[in-house]
Amino acid sequence: TKVVADTGDFQSIKAYTPRDATTNPSLILKAVQKDEYKPLLEKAVRDNPHASTGEVIDKLLIAFGGEILKIVSGRVSTEIDARLSFDVEANVAKGRELIDLYERAGFDRERVLIKIASTWEGIKAAEILEKEMIHTNLTLLFSLPQAIACAEAGVQLISPFVGRIYDWYKKQTGIEYEGAEDPGVQSVKKIYNYFRKFGYETEVMGASFRNTSQILELAGCDLLTISPDLLQKLADSNDPVERKLTADSAGAMAKISVDEKT
Ligand code: E4P
Repeated sequence: TKVVADTGDFQSIKAYTPRDATTNPSLILKAVQKDEYKPLLEKAVRDNPHASTGEVIDKLLIAFGGEILKIVSGRVSTEIDARLSFDVEANVAKGRELIDLYERAGFDRERVLIKIASTWEGIKAAEILEKEMIHTNLTLLFSLPQAIACAEAGVQLISPFVGRIYDWYKKQTGIEYEGAEDPGVQSVKKIYNYFRKFGYETEVMGASFRNTSQILELAGCDLLTISPDLLQKLADSNDPVERKLTADSAGAMAKISVDEKT
């Protein structure tokens, strides 16, 4: 399992040793509320006086992505505005534009994953981008059929969500599912086991965690993207297995296995 930091607050990543990092516009908007990131926001507005809010957010994505790439040794996932989720061409154009901006800022395209919603259109866009060696991370993924469509399209990585499924079940039933009973955990396990069983190469990164028990259940997945708050909870744990999950490579973690029923 490779540990990935899920945040816009890149200073907080420094306390851990994640391999990669993921971010999204809402995490970046949250980060720029903090005084330490205000200069980045002010610079983006100053340098682009006629830009719309969406364009300023794009500039911030690049600025934050660049800072994160200086901290982690691996890749950063940078997300395309979800309002484009049902437009193949817009996703392709935005993916090309973002990669171009990163390359012009001196970063290797191999270190950037373009994060796209796992809609039909998003998956089609990812298929086109992957053929141009622009690698993608398909996000907002909640089901096995979405995951299989992504793998068949040759995407580099998928981010099946745990917490949003957990939240939905909790709201509908009032039950706070735990451990292996958690429907969000079950969804990711099902996808991971199916991919291993049928030999798909697409990497599976568990995302959207609400507690450390979900993270522990999914130890063994290819990657897990974890917020700094939860990374800190793992680091403070008395359990050596939980502490290990804050490090770059927790290779010995193998809680989920391909023997499970898919
Ligand atoms: C990761 O790539 C996602 O942006 C993130 O984990 C989403 O989590 P949320 O459900 O807390 O928004």
